[in-house]
Amino acid sequence: LARARRQSVIWLSFQECTGCTESFTRSFSPSLEDLIFDFISLDYHHTLQSVSGEAAEAARRQAMKDNAGQYIVVVDGSVPTAAEGVYSVIAGQTNLAMLAETVEHAAAVVAVGTCAAFGGLPEAHPNPTGAVAIDALVKGKPLINIPGCPPMPQAMVGTLTHILSFGQLPELDALKRPRAFFGETIHDRCYRRPFYERGLFAHSFDDEGARQGWCLFELGCKGPVTYNACASQKWNGGVSFPIQSGHGCIGCSEPGFWDRGGLYQPL
Ligand code: SF4
Ligand code: F3S
Repeated sequence: LARARRQSVIWLSFQECTGCTESFTRSFSPSLEDLIFDFISLDYHHTLQSVSGEAAEAARRQAMKDNAGQYIVVVDGSVPTAAEGVYSVIAGQTNLAMLAETVEHAAAVVAVGTCAAFGGLPEAHPNPTGAVAIDALVKGKPLINIPGCPPMPQAMVGTLTHILSFGQLPELDALKRPRAFFGETIHDRCYRRPFYERGLFAHSFDDEGARQGWCLFELGCKGPVTYNACASQKWNGGVSFPIQSGHGCIGCSEPGFWDRGGLYQPL
């Protein structure tokens, strides 16, 4: 058993900001260290791998060969499709080509972050690179979307450990998001909800209502239309989430959130 092969995971980073990886490293149950030393074999990851250059690409191809049909591909970032994909190139290969090559023999694909899941910031108007979500390019493979800008570490690691534990994908919603983390809106579980129900709203970030912790809806909170687990799971090891820190939800886990009205406009 000690020599049993751990689940191979190949993590591709395309048009992204590395925020998804930053969030991934904040996982606490299991911790990142436990995850990558005991549960998975993270065979390729630009930020976390020790090798670089040709050795890194060789490691990716070796993992694909050794685990054909069994490895999981995690992707963060959207893929530029304009001008045949030249806006983002890694090791001489466009993101388009690297994605197609890497997913060909994958068991499943996990798109983490709103850029990979829905196009995100690179896809915002006028979308100069022709950015698209991973789902638009990967056909015929099981695919999970874990949106968020960044996604919650609990959602990323929880989804991977679900696959490891049960050998199958978790239950997904219509946007291919795991229901366990995206089954309710922020508004459904928000501790400021009693103020919303009583019609008590802050009207500026420093008025008496804000000081009293009233609802942030009239300051543009998108909690009522945003599916994510922030209000129940919370961030930084369960410490807080944007609304608890005094700012409304900007809907970062929903499709097109950059273009769907101003961040500070009420719905
Ligand atoms: Fe709903 Fe936002 Fe108000 Fe919370 S702060 S109750 S999520 S509108
Ligand atoms: Fe994003 Fe809203 Fe959570 S902005 S981090 S989904 S509270």
